Amino acid sequence: MPPAATKTIDVHAGLRDVSAAQRAGSCVMTIFGGAGDLAKRKIVPAMYNAAREGLTPPGFTIVGTGRGEMSHDQYRDLMRDSIREFVAHVDEDTLRDFLAGLYWVGGDFGDPALYVTLEGLIQQCSEERTKCDNRMYYLSTPPSVFVPIVQQLGAHNMARVSGSHHWRRIIIEKPFGRDLESAKTLNREIGAVFEEWQVYRIDHYLGKETVQNITALRFANGIFEPLWNRNYINHVQITAAESIGVEGRGGYYEESGALRDMVQNHLLQVLTLVAIEPPSTFDANAVRDEKAKVLRAMRPYGPEDVDRCFVRAQYDDGLIQGKPVIGYRKEDGVSPTSMTETFVAAQFFVDNWRWADVPFYIRTGKRLPKRVSEVAIFFKRTPHLMFRRMMSDEVAPNVLALQIQPDESIAMQFEAKFPGPQMELRSVKMNFQYKEAFQVETAEAYERLILDCLRGDATLFMRRDAVEVGWWLVMPVLERWQNQQTSSIPAYPSGSWGPKESEDLLARDGRLWRTP
Ligand code: BG6
Repeated sequence: MPPAATKTIDVHAGLRDVSAAQRAGSCVMTIFGGAGDLAKRKIVPAMYNAAREGLTPPGFTIVGTGRGEMSHDQYRDLMRDSIREFVAHVDEDTLRDFLAGLYWVGGDFGDPALYVTLEGLIQQCSEERTKCDNRMYYLSTPPSVFVPIVQQLGAHNMARVSGSHHWRRIIIEKPFGRDLESAKTLNREIGAVFEEWQVYRIDHYLGKETVQNITALRFANGIFEPLWNRNYINHVQITAAESIGVEGRGGYYEESGALRDMVQNHLLQVLTLVAIEPPSTFDANAVRDEKAKVLRAMRPYGPEDVDRCFVRAQYDDGLIQGKPVIGYRKEDGVSPTSMTETFVAAQFFVDNWRWADVPFYIRTGKRLPKRVSEVAIFFKRTPHLMFRRMMSDEVAPNVLALQIQPDESIAMQFEAKFPGPQMELRSVKMNFQYKEAFQVETAEAYERLILDCLRGDATLFMRRDAVEVGWWLVMPVLERWQNQQTSSIPAYPSGSWGPKESEDLLARDGRLWRTP
């Protein structure tokens, strides 16, 4: 049985929280790991972008904290460099104002003294800058210190606030646990200090515009939903391909692998959005209830099913855009006999009325030919083909392809008659491109998600139950792979679409991966 549903959610507390956010406005955001890679590349640049667009509230303040002593000015210099490096359009006036709201506190996350200093600085910033007592804590640290930080926040009375006029919220980065047990423990420890409505477990895939557009496409249009089921859909393919390797993160990746790094979280989240029933309203609990129902309906796998339905592989030497790259086992921090998978392909089923027997194929990998993520809905073929005698090839099925990145688009593939005297059919595409249609740059996922947290909207964050069910689903796979007495793992040349076994997974059902 999948882990139990979250029953501790106090919906009214959440609603109180939203109205409090609207009234109170600003906040002090404390970033644990404030000078780390993620803070430099994503979090602080995202908040700068938000400030430049006028989306941060007046007095918004960031306190970075982590090991290492620095003055506030040194921290500002460090972040100035990051913003210049990672933000496309920097406006010097807004940059100056934004940096003035940055502070640094050095210390050890396990040391109570750090929290005394932090509390003093946050209080001071609340009085002088934000003029209110709202706080967001962002855990952008290795997962090993999530619990110590949360416990210290609890011990120093920094997690709760009396009355409903102000709030405390906490954003927790991935990886959220490394298996079901550790995820449950983490949830329990966090739950001992923060209430569920205060907790925002981030999955940056959910902040991507096109991922959110899956819901808009399905539920804001009358024409798709009647077809969105086993009667019309033959199968679904979800691909998240990357051309990069492990990029200096060999140590982390050895402990993780593609199943934990991409499938358990990002790809399952995308799958649930494709598969959910229409929520009655677009609020955090209604949407997340439906998502949890899909995860619970997913078919669990036994050890033999794992061998049949999951493919793992590792990238070898090869060429990416014509340039030679080294295989995974030669990367820094990676064991030369590593069995860690950098590629996963899998077949899932959602055993409910809508989706019975419709396969959901997913695949993800590093060092694939290009960076592209998409969801492709393959519709059933026409029941009778009157053109058959005039044609040499099978007629292609209709495919609705939602490209999540890099070219955010929705394309419908259908058959059309090629001009000429013969009834010759060709596949053609109707293409909707975000950038062309809306003429705006889409915001970075981090910007959207942090602003949602600031507004008290948890719709795009993972609830406790979803995280646990996600782990429950992949546990048999992790266990099977760990217990298999083998010293080899299929290899694929860098720059290819993965191993032959991945093609076989679909071929045995008479299907082919689409090349995005
Ligand atoms: C992260 C993974 O969560 O997602 C990385 O840890 C991966 O390994 C990244 O590269 C992919 O995200 P995006 O937004 O570049 O598709």
